[in-house]
Amino acid sequence: MAEIAPSILAADFANLQRDVEMINSSSAGYIHVDIMDGMFVPNISFGLPVCEAIHKHAQKPLDVHLMIEQPDRYLEAFRKAGASGLTVHYEACPHLHRTIQHIKELGAEPGVALNPHTPVEVLSEIMGDVSLILIMSVNPGFGGQKFIENTYRKIATLDSYRKKFGYNFKIEVDGGVNLDNAPRLVQEGVDILVAGSFVFSSPNPAQTIAELGNS
Ligand code: DX5
Ligand code: ZN
Repeated sequence: MAEIAPSILAADFANLQRDVEMINSSSAGYIHVDIMDGMFVPNISFGLPVCEAIHKHAQKPLDVHLMIEQPDRYLEAFRKAGASGLTVHYEACPHLHRTIQHIKELGAEPGVALNPHTPVEVLSEIMGDVSLILIMSVNPGFGGQKFIENTYRKIATLDSYRKKFGYNFKIEVDGGVNLDNAPRLVQEGVDILVAGSFVFSSPNPAQTIAELGNS
């Protein structure tokens, strides 16, 4: 069993309210909100006004994934725009400890994300301070990419750290998640599955969310 965070990046942006309401009425645990700046990643998604608009209709917590450079500049603004959780990239934060403390001061759940090439060991000194570790299973920037297989090993390593030291962070995986890889991801220790195109391109998205959750 896993919690599901449907990624709004794959929604129909001309029908955002409808798609947010679909998520509200589903068994999803969160709404995953991807913020891309065209600098940290080679794509631009959307920014604060759209996040606010999603929040206005959302009945699930907003899990905001900041794929942006210098995220410290925008933490407060995204918190005000409705973020419950704020996840920054390890690769974008030279002073990650300070950034995590800042997120806590804002009253949000602090998360840290790792690109596919970054080993989980780099987080050993911050694991006790975060609520969430997000493992990217594709290179960030686009929905609909193919799942990278070495993600399983990273999840297992992270789960072993968690058990060994008694940490409480949740493990989230993001990119290329579907019903083929979800069961093994859960088996290796994933708590939250992000799924974008697999949910929104399915004939019955709410049912797909339920099926993923039973993985
Ligand atoms: C990718 C984003 C993901 C994306 C997932 O950079 O962080 O959250 O929306 O989309 P799928 O599930 O289509 O790979
Ligand atoms: Zn994401």
